[in-house]
Amino acid sequence: MSQSRTCYLLICLLLSCAVNQAGAADPPAVEAKNGMVVAAEPLAAEAGVEMLRRGGNAIDAAVATGFCLAVTYPVAGNLGGGGFLVATLPTDAGAQTIALDFRETAPAAAHARLYIDAVAAGKTNASTLGHLAAGVPGSVAGLLYALEKWGTLERRTVLEPAIRLAREGFLLPRRTHQFLASASIASAMSQFSATRAVFYPNGSAPAEGSVFKQPDLAETLTRIANDGRAGFYQGKTAELLEKEMKRGGGIMTRADLANYRPIERKPIEFSFRDYRIVSMPPPSSGGVCLQQMLGMLSTFPLEEFGHNSSASIHVIAESMRRSFADRNRFLGDPDFHELPLTRLTSPSHIQAQSKTIKPNAASSSKEVLSGASAREKEQTTHYSVVDRNGGAVSVTTTLNGAFGSKAVVAGAGFLLNNEMDDFATEPGKPNLYGLVQGEVNAVGPGRRPLSSMTPTIVLDSGGRVRHVLGTPGGPTIITNVLQVLLNLVVYRLAPQAAVNAPKFHHQCLPDRLDLEPGLPKDVWSALERRGHNLKERSAIGDFQLISREPTTGTLYGASDPRGGGAARGH
Ligand code: GLY
Repeated sequence: MSQSRTCYLLICLLLSCAVNQAGAADPPAVEAKNGMVVAAEPLAAEAGVEMLRRGGNAIDAAVATGFCLAVTYPVAGNLGGGGFLVATLPTDAGAQTIALDFRETAPAAAHARLYIDAVAAGKTNASTLGHLAAGVPGSVAGLLYALEKWGTLERRTVLEPAIRLAREGFLLPRRTHQFLASASIASAMSQFSATRAVFYPNGSAPAEGSVFKQPDLAETLTRIANDGRAGFYQGKTAELLEKEMKRGGGIMTRADLANYRPIERKPIEFSFRDYRIVSMPPPSSGGVCLQQMLGMLSTFPLEEFGHNSSASIHVIAESMRRSFADRNRFLGDPDFHELPLTRLTSPSHIQAQSKTIKPNAASSSKEVLSGASAREKEQTTHYSVVDRNGGAVSVTTTLNGAFGSKAVVAGAGFLLNNEMDDFATEPGKPNLYGLVQGEVNAVGPGRRPLSSMTPTIVLDSGGRVRHVLGTPGGPTIITNVLQVLLNLVVYRLAPQAAVNAPKFHHQCLPDRLDLEPGLPKDVWSALERRGHNLKERSAIGDFQLISREPTTGTLYGASDPRGGGAARGH
């Protein structure tokens, strides 16, 4: 079994232990009046709430949480990765909606044959492990752009918790210890001397509960606090990164760093029932798929079918199958391709897709598909924020795989992503999982790889925030956001119950319906009778949800028991 596949299975196992332990007595959602931050790691959520207490808004809190996760949640939090931010900010004219793309870009020297040639030269893991796997990081530019444009606090104030935690250290949580101590991750990480120095200082993973300090990372964060984006994309950090690339056979240069820009995009916005959904457009596939799936499902009596009944799971899975077929064939970087977004999200196309769903029989993906499927890794992270004025921020960010490329930049203390693997590294050929993606997502200089990250906000008819949603999970991100949204809006589950409910996933290819444990046997049998190819799988995602009760304005924060995160209220 390949190394990345082993890492992936280990992560699933760790997550499924967490969900099994959650049991029936899950605590209710955390309640607060003045603001809420929900994140995959408690210290990062606390840093965000600290900004709200100091009078900052949801953007200030999100930026503080994002920088903190780079310190306290190294498996996915990052300076060396990228992500997407969706926000709705109250203005006198109603809610201003924002979609900020800080996805990584392929370095200027990248080309369509990069990984085909690397594999031919014997470097079989070149798109997942080590320096060649890294795209130009976007997180620092994106977070600083958001802070400067929509935040209210000083950069130094917002970065202070992250710098303190990197310099003074924090008690290493069990989850991070377990990740680092696993044989497959340890052996991959240990190939890189700078990574060994940070994460295996005495030859093994630091003990759970020991004080974990990251002095080089503290210095990098201090340069960012002092000099803004120049503290990362130029000067000493850029020099260290370029040296690291040369040492490890990567192709990213200082010019790539200096040229990196986050991009404000027009959010995907559409109505579902009485709500307005605001989500991420390409290069994320999340918003488009959400619009398609909710559109197809509008024609079915989901309430009558019942929550997680075989009838509802069947039609929801069929909507997933159809949407993923479009995703993999037609979506990529909108700056390099004319994407058929108008057609893909048109009522006539969505209705036509919906009409092909048979009420009592599974379709075959071969019939539905002319395209392919997804190959994203599942290690990503999400945080949700709401402030006292109803400003809401939903951020999903990633290094792609667990600890990204596994390569730390020596002297700068941060991990590089392996986001290049989100491209179709060999278009038209099956990947590691036997899946195929199209030319539209091929590697090319300056391009952004297609993503599944789906940071989403649900507004009521008056433009007030009702829910802030998001999760990690590669392709399961899209289908998990769909299910929690349906759990809240259609099935009227309480926030924590909406997050905790068993989940399922279909991505067209492989032609298989994956189910978490916890669904009754008769639901399994009824789905099998409809012709679904079922497979039990480990925990799906690590959801971070905030819901706002419309009459009282009370906020409810629900962090997923599948992970180790927390909701912190103010
Ligand atoms: N790397 C996971 C995603 O962007 O979907």
